[in-house]
Amino acid sequence: MTTWLLTGGAGYIGAHVARELLASGRQVVVLDDLSAGHRERVPADATFIGVSVLDTAAVRDALTRYDVTGVIHLAAKKAVGESVEKPLLYYRENVGGMVSLLQAMADAGTRCLVYSSSAAVYGDPPWSPISEDTPCAPLSPYGQTKLIGEWMVRDEAVARPLSWVSLRYFNVAGAGSPDLGDSSANNLIPLVFAALDRGEAPRVFGTDYPTDDGSCVRDYIHVSDLSEAHVAAAALCESGEVATVFNVGTGRGASVWQVMATVSEVVGRDVGAVAVERRVGDPPELVASVDRIAGELGWSASRDLRDMIASAYAAHR
Ligand code: UD1
Repeated sequence: MTTWLLTGGAGYIGAHVARELLASGRQVVVLDDLSAGHRERVPADATFIGVSVLDTAAVRDALTRYDVTGVIHLAAKKAVGESVEKPLLYYRENVGGMVSLLQAMADAGTRCLVYSSSAAVYGDPPWSPISEDTPCAPLSPYGQTKLIGEWMVRDEAVARPLSWVSLRYFNVAGAGSPDLGDSSANNLIPLVFAALDRGEAPRVFGTDYPTDDGSCVRDYIHVSDLSEAHVAAAALCESGEVATVFNVGTGRGASVWQVMATVSEVVGRDVGAVAVERRVGDPPELVASVDRIAGELGWSASRDLRDMIASAYAAHR
């Protein structure tokens, strides 16, 4: 039985990944400073360490004490708008966090790493679907820090033995169980439910994009599918030398209007979404090419947009 350390393991995605790792028969150590995570989301079967990934000595101690095989690194700041206002915070937490983690792993001799990257590394690519070979041109400090993190992992793996997978998440949504919803209300689906709670109309940011119905198209991926991808990536790292980047999406796009229509179906009434101005910096279409992850990892998403919205709604209620 192997043990994996999960940074950010008390967060929305981390709590799902922790459960999936435990279900796969691995032991789990969650390291989380609870700046965004929730202690009660850490499963009882996991060990919890309440420190920041910036505390290199504490990370090194945890890696050594629990004889950790690999790390899944999720701990990071993730709000695009905030990153524009506070870039240094993002460089400190996300890039500084990666320096700290890689140092601790080198000191402890930890050889496996699954890194949480983002479709934000692509910026506004000229074609869709987006393969992993598409040139990266992030549009925000957040996206920059995620891309720099990928470079750091790659460089470190040249200098010492390190088996790694970087996962570029597309738009993560849904909940694996009603107690594990996305409570941050930063992203479209939680924002729609928040608007409905206030008795307001959900807003569609921009309806004059060059897409079929004029609204932005995204590749929404269920957090449970994403969690399964992490466990498959961890297993791949354990099995030998690996150094690769995978998109994690469904390969299918959904427009904002389609999301609104599906929310209406799920809640049983027309949510009355209204068109408003474009939000600055939103690319028209971001859909993953998922050929590489299907071919090399044998993983593909099994849940659809309705599953995501229905589970998010159950968690929201
Ligand atoms: C999100 C994340 C980004 C992450 C990326 C890929 C944010 C702000 N962005 O980007 O960190 O890297 O996924 O995983 O957290 N929209 C509306 N009305 C709303 C809210 C959103 O129409 O009230 C639209 C947006 O214009 C966009 C789509 O819904 O087209 C999705 O928006 P959002 O959930 O914020 O995600 P992204 O901006 O795609």
